[in-house]
Amino acid sequence: MRVKVMRIRRLQLMYALQLQCINIASSTVFLTVSAALTWTAEPFNPASVPLAVRSPYLSCWLNQGAGTALNAGWPTFWTGSILGWAGYVTVDGSSYNFLGVPSVPGTNANKAVQKSLKFTSTQSTFVMTAGPVDLTVNFLSPVEPSDLAKQSFPFSYLSLSAASNDGGSHKVQVYTDISAEWITGDNSLTANWSTSVGNIITHQVQLAQQSLFTEASDHIQQGSAFYSTQSATGVTFQTGEDTVVRAQFINNAVLLNTQDSEFRAVSDRWPVFAFARDLGTVSASPSPEVVFSIGHARDPAIEYIIANGALQQRSSFFWSQFSSIADAISSFLGDYTSALSRANAFDAQVAKDANAISSDYASIVALSIRQGFGATEITISKDAQGNFNTSDVLMFMKEISSDGNVNTVDVIFPSWPLFLYSNPTLGKQLLLPLFEYQATGQYPNAWSVHDMGASYPKALGHNDGKDEPMPVEESGNMLIMTLSYTQRTNDKSLITTYFNLLDQWTQFLITDSLIPANQISTDDFAGSLANQTNLAIKGIVGIKAMAVIADLVGDQARSSNYSSIAASYVQQWQTFATSSGGQHLTLSYGDDASWGLSYNLLGDKLLGTYLFPTSVYDMQTKWYSSVANSFGVPLDTRHTYTKSDWEIWTAGIVTSTSVRDTFISAVKNYASDGLNSQPLGDWYETANGKVEGFRARPVVGGHLALLVASPTSSGGHINFLESKQRDD
Ligand SMILES: *[C@@H]1O[C@H](CO)[C@@H](O)[C@H](O)[C@H]1NC(C)=O
Ligand SMILES: *[C@@H]1O[C@H](CO)[C@@H](O)[C@H](O)[C@H]1NC(C)=O
Ligand SMILES: *[C@@H]1O[C@H](CO)[C@@H](O)[C@H](O)[C@H]1NC(C)=O
Ligand SMILES: *[C@@H]1O[C@H](CO)[C@@H](O)[C@H](O)[C@H]1NC(C)=O
Repeated sequence: MRVKVMRIRRLQLMYALQLQCINIASSTVFLTVSAALTWTAEPFNPASVPLAVRSPYLSCWLNQGAGTALNAGWPTFWTGSILGWAGYVTVDGSSYNFLGVPSVPGTNANKAVQKSLKFTSTQSTFVMTAGPVDLTVNFLSPVEPSDLAKQSFPFSYLSLSAASNDGGSHKVQVYTDISAEWITGDNSLTANWSTSVGNIITHQVQLAQQSLFTEASDHIQQGSAFYSTQSATGVTFQTGEDTVVRAQFINNAVLLNTQDSEFRAVSDRWPVFAFARDLGTVSASPSPEVVFSIGHARDPAIEYIIANGALQQRSSFFWSQFSSIADAISSFLGDYTSALSRANAFDAQVAKDANAISSDYASIVALSIRQGFGATEITISKDAQGNFNTSDVLMFMKEISSDGNVNTVDVIFPSWPLFLYSNPTLGKQLLLPLFEYQATGQYPNAWSVHDMGASYPKALGHNDGKDEPMPVEESGNMLIMTLSYTQRTNDKSLITTYFNLLDQWTQFLITDSLIPANQISTDDFAGSLANQTNLAIKGIVGIKAMAVIADLVGDQARSSNYSSIAASYVQQWQTFATSSGGQHLTLSYGDDASWGLSYNLLGDKLLGTYLFPTSVYDMQTKWYSSVANSFGVPLDTRHTYTKSDWEIWTAGIVTSTSVRDTFISAVKNYASDGLNSQPLGDWYETANGKVEGFRARPVVGGHLALLVASPTSSGGHINFLESKQRDD
């Protein structure tokens, strides 16, 4: 990662929330209510609510601060720029705005009142009261770890269902639209659009001038946004200027089935793409759900360096299963009922696994999963004949917000628990681009490359060797992730195919990890330092990982050599790295007053190598319990800030349940403190619970660390698949 100065909107910081837990009688559900919130929030009101979060370019959120109702702010892209998404419901002729903050001169719609917000791993559900009717607004961003086509489809669902809240029957019509802000980071650019009407009605909108693999303010300037619904009695549509189309619905509760064909800039009389649906008469039992899909797709998706500097264009995997985007959308919309039950099963499995730790922990995990997957895309290449090559599936990840690097090794590493838990094969597909590229011989350094390219979605490598240098960090990370993948799948393909590269990185670690040269670690914003204790742990675990890898491929001599080197390093490291009073590990050798989070010990536990003695874990556990601030233990003694991913990783190495729970509550208190208004930021202040400059990064996948912390953890994917089989 590399810290980039961002245009972070400084929030008006509100007062701290008084959070109280109301234990609903004979139920395990905890609702969080606060003085500032006028709705119930379950499990809590986060800094930003994920609405449609599936890829680096389909990333729509509702920022919260102390609490923002669904109709009290516009949904935004992860950067904070507005994504126009509006909604109205008409009840017995009176219109209520339930989504977004549209202003429509000459009309007088009411505001629906938010009653509740609930989030799970895949869904954010709002109940909005519109007079005598409650409208349930569900945003489902599927997480489909065992289905490459479904996981790679950058689409999300919005579903609406109405029920009477006063015992009476009411006539109800619903309306929703999107603006063209979904297609660009520059609203002065010209958009064009079309609406196709068949079994499915789809609005498609894109930039008139497409730029392949190019971003503007982190939005891709390529591809199209799609807003769709199934055709049915009572469905109408319209495209046109925002105020005109919305006024049409507010005044008439129906749209005109007309299209605006005056293509223009996104912000020129704001064209919107709208649907309305007459639900007929609604009584106390909820109406059938009206389902919309929202997506952003492009082809090709990724530019990728292969041998001899050649560039390959790669497509999102779903294209290999569908002959057109219309077919893919039709399949997605038609699959809603099954998708919802898969999502409910996934949510329940994650909640069960995480609740085995604690309910605070389960709430952090639920908030992290869409964000983690939302930075990734699964791709496939074509062979020389133009046919998709199903044996060439690669996953790409955008670093997001700290910079736009592609497949940053030290961003994949903290997020690794998400993939180990949900499906380790996805982890392999994330590592493969790094292995393939370095195996071509184009990367000149002895250690592992930092990332696959400076700017997503261009995975162009670093043939000049001038990537951000994190030699020990990335070499150790690659070895640890590769072995953990192999252990959990028994698939030896990575360790046999890339044995030489893995060994080359190990040789480097043997020279540079016991006494690490002055360099940065993944926490580069904290500065560079020689002799970093925690970095040395990573390097030594990496050497031991190679010993296990060598053993797995039958190279016993190499295995025992590396094992004894690692063991001897641990002994020497203990003398270098322990403070003179024996109270804690230091941040760097010899600096007695310094300390930090030694989260890299989790690698030792994850792999079951148990190189480092229990006394080290016990010492750190005791120390952390004495230095925690209100929002957690600082990353190290240079600053008072910390990282939420490393807090949870460290919770995975402490030997006391109560100290573990202190780390968990600290992160949960930060995530729910009402002081921040952006997709969950992993970097924050332990003194006051305010976020630092990162947001929406996939490293929150590291919050799943406690679900995979030892090599004997079966991993939820196994439980999940088993429970699915039982259901089937
Ligand atoms: C919109 O622009 C794209 C990209 O230039 C072009 O391919 C497409 O035909 C245009 N569509 C319409 C409806 O004009
Ligand atoms: C398909 O991909 C695999 C894995 O990258 C590669 O080895 C193979 O040559 C490719 N096949 C074709 C026909 O391009
Ligand atoms: C790093 O630690 C070793 C072992 O204590 C010491 O010999 C060396 O001088 C240290 N290097 C720096 C730059 O402090
Ligand atoms: C063990 O590995 C190190 C580092 O590669 C090498 O220098 C040394 O010769 C090896 N020792 C044996 C006994 O093979």
